Amino acid sequence: MSSIDTLFRPFRLKSLSLANRIVMAPMTRSKSPGQVPGEDVAAYYGRRAAAGVGLILTEGTSPEHRSASNDANVPAFFGEASLKGWADVLNSVKAAGGHIMPQLWHQGIVRHQGKGPYPDAPSISPSGLARPDKIVGEPMTQRDIDDVIAGFAKSAGFAKAIGFDGVEIHGAHGYIIDQFFWEGTNRREDAYGGSIENRTRFAREIVAAVRQTTGPEFPILLRFSQWKQQDFVARLATNPSELERFLGPLTDAGVDMFHCSTRRFWEPEFPDSGSDLNLAGWTKKISGLPTITVGSVGLNEDFITAYRTKGAQTAGIDRLLDMLARGDFDLVAIGRALIANPDWPEKVGAGHFDRLVAYEPEALETLI
Ligand code: FNR
Repeated sequence: MSSIDTLFRPFRLKSLSLANRIVMAPMTRSKSPGQVPGEDVAAYYGRRAAAGVGLILTEGTSPEHRSASNDANVPAFFGEASLKGWADVLNSVKAAGGHIMPQLWHQGIVRHQGKGPYPDAPSISPSGLARPDKIVGEPMTQRDIDDVIAGFAKSAGFAKAIGFDGVEIHGAHGYIIDQFFWEGTNRREDAYGGSIENRTRFAREIVAAVRQTTGPEFPILLRFSQWKQQDFVARLATNPSELERFLGPLTDAGVDMFHCSTRRFWEPEFPDSGSDLNLAGWTKKISGLPTITVGSVGLNEDFITAYRTKGAQTAGIDRLLDMLARGDFDLVAIGRALIANPDWPEKVGAGHFDRLVAYEPEALETLI
């Protein structure tokens, strides 16, 4: 059995130096009226930094594009007031000795038309498909594509200018970038569709534009997932060689670290291969880049089936520590357990597992 110390080893990525391997998973809160994160948001992240979270990934925040979000309480990463709010969040986290990156999140077709801070803006997507069998709009034009890419680059530039430690691009869970990745929602016949390599083009152009704006040293993380909210069992890659075709172009485009979103971190990604590596394990092995794992760490229920309706009891992390010690992945993201236990790193570090509390959905409203 691996020691808890394995979670408390430092980690370096370019100029970023983290005290431990604990990451706060990005989690939407919808507590930023008018898209502006306030003092309560700064305190929420500052509290977790003070308790020893190595790296905070913020809740999804909108890049500079009017179609990005269906919720005006989701913070934006553009505009004077929102950026001032983020500067205060950053100060709060830095005062506590932490590190923080915003997650840039464009919802694409998942955004309900007429909703959000800019109700008149159209909801956009690669092929106008909400799901494989449901046409709800027109395919994005080249102009649309260029505008979204520019929006990601601008917001990443703001993150760098304010002093954030890097940026995470949300390419998972069936949102706009994943709508390009997934053949179920990408039926384009141009250079953005067809082969798995082509389906990475939109993401690669975003990464390249972000790199152009932020420079060579700024860490760029890309979060991706096999599962989609439109289809939990969907897969981008059904075997390691397909995963290689997916990751290769993205790695070449300049991603620094992959955040591999799974619902249960212990599940082997390709059981037929005879390997017990999970998605983060395979991604690290294939790309040679560091990876973050996530999914029910310290909990006994996965996030999709349980998070809004059902609680989750605490669970041990021995298996996680073994996989981390073996070098399967580099960092570990904690979601709901960190909502319920803002001091999760302190308690775990001290071996006080019995003092961790279960996750209850009410915590989304009550815990700050
Ligand atoms: C999430 N998740 C999520 N993921 C993401 O990439 N961007 C986001 O904004 C959100 N929002 C969000 C809100 C809430 C309330 C939950 C519970 C989850 C998914 C999250 O980052 C993580 O992948 C899952 O929660 C799984 O981790 P845990 O909770 O099992 O540790």
